[in-house]
Amino acid sequence: MKIIHSVEALRQAVKTEKKVGKSVGFVPTMGFLHEGHMSLVKAAKKDNDFVVASIFVNPTQFGENEDLDAYPKDLEGDQNKLEQEGVDILFYPTVEEMYPKGYSTYVSVEGDMTGVLCGSSRPGHFRGVATIVTKLFNMVAPDRAYFGQKDAQQVSVIERMVKDLNMDLEIIPCPIHREADGLAMSSRNTYLNEKERKDALVLSQSLFEAKETILSGERRANKIIEGIIDKISTVDYAIIDYVEIVDALTLHKIDEIKGDILIAIAVKVGKPRLIDNLRLEV
Ligand code: PAF
Repeated sequence: MKIIHSVEALRQAVKTEKKVGKSVGFVPTMGFLHEGHMSLVKAAKKDNDFVVASIFVNPTQFGENEDLDAYPKDLEGDQNKLEQEGVDILFYPTVEEMYPKGYSTYVSVEGDMTGVLCGSSRPGHFRGVATIVTKLFNMVAPDRAYFGQKDAQQVSVIERMVKDLNMDLEIIPCPIHREADGLAMSSRNTYLNEKERKDALVLSQSLFEAKETILSGERRANKIIEGIIDKISTVDYAIIDYVEIVDALTLHKIDEIKGDILIAIAVKVGKPRLIDNLRLEV
């Protein structure tokens, strides 16, 4: 695996492979890789001749009160994992390489899609994501890019952006990866202490129970939301950011559970704010 730090070297390396007709898969990450990330890499390896992964903790997607500097890092561990999985290039740029002095251009997906769920509690977050993902797509020029469904809103925003800006690549959403006990894998889980790790299970459990309730016939979104809130509230120190049921494609709130729906939750369990979701066709 080649480790590349500069945009110019990355472009040259990918161009060489494309010239001989190889398809390019791309997995953008912020590092501290877990099995969820590796499932994206595996999918990219399966579908493409050549795979590029990136590690870049993107400052523009962090809010002022979010601790960018404390974002967990393990470059050596990440390198080993990517190498073992057969990644061809790891792109690991500096902040200066990605946002040089005088940088002034941002990509913003407007409207409801970025104003709800994480968009309302993390203003500017999706502008940062759309900007960095556009830049990375321009640098790597992949045929396919892989994103985890745990960040369901991120996937929807990126799909919208790719469509709206006529970007020439396919977005491949990959299923949420869960620990054996159901907790959705996340780099942020590392902040949980032993008790919080146990208590954090209320997120996935509340979603699984909601699914059962829907499958047994409940169609009122407010009833399902109440059930999720009740379950999460059994952990007295958990702070709910949102519990929403939306149309999976438009992310508009719905009252009646019907069609392709997304139940999305964000909850602070101790220090970390965790997100989880469940997509269901009813
Ligand atoms: O999902 C992430 O890790 C990040 O939001 C992404 C897509 C790598 C952009 O920084």
